[in-house]
Amino acid sequence: MPKILVTGAFGQIGSELVNSLQNKFGTDSVIATDIHLPKNFVGNAEILDVCDAEKYRQFVVDNKIDTIYHLASLLSVGGEANPDLAWTLNLGSLKTMLDIARDHKIKCFWPSSIAAFGKTSLYDPTPQHNILEPTTIYGVTKVAGELLCQYYFLKYGVDVRSVRYPGIIQYKGDVGNGTTEYAIAIFYDALKTGKFECFLKPDAKLPMMFIDDAIAATIGIMEASADAIEIRTSYNLSAISFSPEKLVQEIRKNIALKVKYKPDHHQTIADTWPKTIDDSEARKDWGWKNTVDLPKLVNIMLKEVSEKIGVNDGKK
Ligand SMILES: NC(=O)c1ccc[n+]([C@@H]2O[C@H](COP(=O)([O-])OP(=O)(O)OC[C@H]3O[C@@H](n4cnc5c(N)ncnc54)[C@H](O)[C@@H]3O)[C@@H](O)[C@H]2O)c1
Repeated sequence: MPKILVTGAFGQIGSELVNSLQNKFGTDSVIATDIHLPKNFVGNAEILDVCDAEKYRQFVVDNKIDTIYHLASLLSVGGEANPDLAWTLNLGSLKTMLDIARDHKIKCFWPSSIAAFGKTSLYDPTPQHNILEPTTIYGVTKVAGELLCQYYFLKYGVDVRSVRYPGIIQYKGDVGNGTTEYAIAIFYDALKTGKFECFLKPDAKLPMMFIDDAIAATIGIMEASADAIEIRTSYNLSAISFSPEKLVQEIRKNIALKVKYKPDHHQTIADTWPKTIDDSEARKDWGWKNTVDLPKLVNIMLKEVSEKIGVNDGKK
């Protein structure tokens, strides 16, 4: 039975990942850590600040951890508000994790992002090997992090694996302030008020993925044999690319929705990100495939968000 540590475990991705890991390996195999803990969590949960390198190392040793999913991070919008913290948290704690992994032979996962790309990248489709010149601090930490992972693999043989997540669409967690999260907020506003104000332009097409596919990819790459993992920076990963306009059209097939577009600083970030992703390497090397397309995503989100907030999804 593996002994798995998840950091940043109570964020949007971690909450779902922990649940899937518990179901797969048993509740006792997983320790969920973060700088805050939720009230009604079932399983092992502890406070762990990953910026405290000594505590991080001691925690891994004390709990005989053999696998780490390192999700603690500051994302795109938070990073622009606090670039120093983005650097310390996103890169400093990754280096700590890689040092621990090297010293204690731990298999590890760290996510990169489509934010690793920039305006000079080829972007439609975005190839695996591309120009990486992001202009956000978040993107800078992702590019540096990818290279650091590859360096630890080549120099020390650390078995670190990574994917570049697109925008993740989920309904269980809170709606964050990320650039792609308009595509979550829209369901809450559509169901509550029938109106939505979008901070991106109507044609701002971005790569997205439903959370279940993101979790399947995360566990999938970690389950693959080490020999199959040819790319030790980070794999491109793709599911569905859509613009606000396209999403609105799909939602309107189900419920009435009025939309106003007021592009702001989120659009400035979106302008530097890819439109579609070529993920053929992930499909070839470790069998990645997505299962949720746009109509399915809209159906799931309308059903789940309406149940969560207690309003009719227009189908009853
Ligand atoms: N959500 C997306 O659309 C998306 C897209 C691409 C990449 N990613 C990457 O996936 C990972 C997880 O993202 P997420 O969406 O779950 O983010 P999130 O912001 O929802 O969660 C991050 C978690 O990290 C925790 N954290 C912050 N500082 C910490 C510290 N010092 N020590 C320990 N924990 C700390 C936060 O409390 C939070 O629970 C990140 O690396 C992010 O860059 C996410």
